[in-house]
Amino acid sequence: MIKPLVIKLGGNILKKEAALNNLFTTLANYLNIYNNRFIMIVHGGGYIVDDLMKKLSLSIIKKNGLRITPHDQIDIVVGALAGIANKKLLAWAKKHKINAIGLCLSDGNIVNSLQIDKKLGNVGHVFPGNSSLLNILFDSQYIPIISSIGIDDNGNLLNINADEAAAALALTTDANLVLLSDVNGIKDNKGNFIKEIKKHEAERLISNNVIQHGMVIKVRAALKVAFILNRPVNIASWEYIDQLNALFNGYSIGTRVHN
Ligand SMILES: Nc1ncnc2c1ncn2[C@@H]1O[C@H](COP(=O)(O)OP(=O)(O)OP(=O)(O)O)[C@@H](O)[C@H]1O
Ligand SMILES: [Mg+2]
Repeated sequence: MIKPLVIKLGGNILKKEAALNNLFTTLANYLNIYNNRFIMIVHGGGYIVDDLMKKLSLSIIKKNGLRITPHDQIDIVVGALAGIANKKLLAWAKKHKINAIGLCLSDGNIVNSLQIDKKLGNVGHVFPGNSSLLNILFDSQYIPIISSIGIDDNGNLLNINADEAAAALALTTDANLVLLSDVNGIKDNKGNFIKEIKKHEAERLISNNVIQHGMVIKVRAALKVAFILNRPVNIASWEYIDQLNALFNGYSIGTRVHN
């Protein structure tokens, strides 16, 4: 049986009509051919949060690629990610006749969330969870579109890095994982894209500050999944339509992260 596929979309795609149109066209065509493959979409949406924060004159603080989320700002983050970003993607799916359903990470406990540290506010890490709900959705031919909002066991809403969320979901469902971003993979110290990378080299580039910001979490999320599932994870761009189809079929575009 073909493995499920988790596609993580970096939030910046929401700014790009043409890229969204390409992505959902490719996805709809792919699903018409491979209608027995379970596809799940996980998304970020950092810029929508930033826009909303700016409008409300609130300051944006990030630490190691994680957004510090004071308790009184989590409502805004939830509104932006589970609301605006999630429903915009649902709208694109509907326009392309994809039978999608909008969820967050804690619907049916599909992943488990834990607050990291009170000093970071309502920010969490996630761990593999329960695939029962996803199995029901797959059997009924729904495509879940999942925002990176989690809820811990005490009922706290948590802001989760979407790459970590996608990794936990791939582990929950034993899925192939592709992380689509606004860059076509990992760049080396000369700005060239790296085609294949393993843990040792990735950690070296992180300690030399060649890999920075959100890419640090992305690479580590990819390494974790590649290690546990013992198959590579792709980091690529959502920008190149001709490459997306190849990617969904398991070909390498961008950077392939190996165990
Ligand atoms: N060595 C590197 N190679 C490529 N990109 C890098 C590197 N170091 C840092 N980056 C940055 O990482 C960014 C991608 O991570 P970022 O978290 O910003 O986006 P995302 O994960 O795709 O979206 P979101 O966070 O909304 O889910 C790139 O736009 C780039 O600026
Ligand atoms: Mg990111």
